[in-house]
Amino acid sequence: MRIEWLQAVTKLRQGEVIALPTETVYGLAASLFSSDAINTVFRLKKRPFDNPLIVHVAKTADVACYVKMLPQGFEQLTEAFWPGPLTLVVPVDVLHISEQVRAGLSTAAFRVPAHPLTLQILSQTGPLVMPSANISGRPSATSYTHVEEDFGIDFPVVDGGESKKGLESTILVFWGEEGDGIWEVGRLGAISQEALAEVLGYLPVLRKSKEEVPICPGQKYRHYAPKARLILEENKDPHICVVGFSDRIYPKGAKVFSLGASDSADEAAHNLYRILRQLDEEGVEEAWVDLSFPEEGLWKSVRERLFKAASS
Ligand code: TXA
Ligand code: MG
Repeated sequence: MRIEWLQAVTKLRQGEVIALPTETVYGLAASLFSSDAINTVFRLKKRPFDNPLIVHVAKTADVACYVKMLPQGFEQLTEAFWPGPLTLVVPVDVLHISEQVRAGLSTAAFRVPAHPLTLQILSQTGPLVMPSANISGRPSATSYTHVEEDFGIDFPVVDGGESKKGLESTILVFWGEEGDGIWEVGRLGAISQEALAEVLGYLPVLRKSKEEVPICPGQKYRHYAPKARLILEENKDPHICVVGFSDRIYPKGAKVFSLGASDSADEAAHNLYRILRQLDEEGVEEAWVDLSFPEEGLWKSVRERLFKAASS
């Protein structure tokens, strides 16, 4: 059910949970200060309690009161990428961010999203936690209809159009002391490692775990998965259904679900979750995925999501 931005502000202030648009994917929003609402977020999403939430704020300065220190590089990164699809995980003052939000860690994740409606709402409500607005394990939602598919047509959603990026934010995790430390990628996303390197002066490595503990707890769970089985092997015939590109020809009879032009990672990212959801809508049981695209930049994030979507 679509609601206006002012209704959204009222509901959030009353401790209700609603969905909001962002440039990456839609988010399930609750006030940072309402532990009941945050509990509802976990319950609605069927999200494990050991998976922490991202705190969304209206502007960079709003992070200062929660953190122990602003790590080296924080200013450059936020200046270059906020508002935008970058999440920064930093050590926090644990008295100011509840254990529920941090899932017991001594750090928290922050982001200023780049969607005008949601920024306007955030400026009225203060910080909001916002996991992606999908049932855990399902492909994320990139339009208000996707949110309704997962949470029902009566669930309140601010309709902000299709999410521009279509992939979640890239997560950078800081390790070290104030003046000395490094950033590592905990989750690939809408900003490439190469783009981050231009600002950091070094390529932040993708690190899945540290001493066997996943650096982004959410990464250990099944993700982005349609009910359809995705086939990633190169030469498997026959391909009845194909997730591929609009400018390529596939075997006769194949129904093609198009990620867009084969030279546009932006298009593929933008269309990916809609296509994964469409497979289910059309009752597709098995689809072959065309993985002939580059290994770097935003393509790397698209590839990672496809592999996650295929593994069950
Ligand atoms: O683009 C996005 O980031 C979207 C939109 C709505 O902003 N949000 C999103 O949230 O993707 P969610 O909850 O689906 O994913 C958050 C990820 C999880 O993998 C979680 O483990 C990680 O962020 N995370 C949150 N706090 C963390 C922390 N303190 N340390 C490490 N990872 C953290
Ligand atoms: Mg998610």
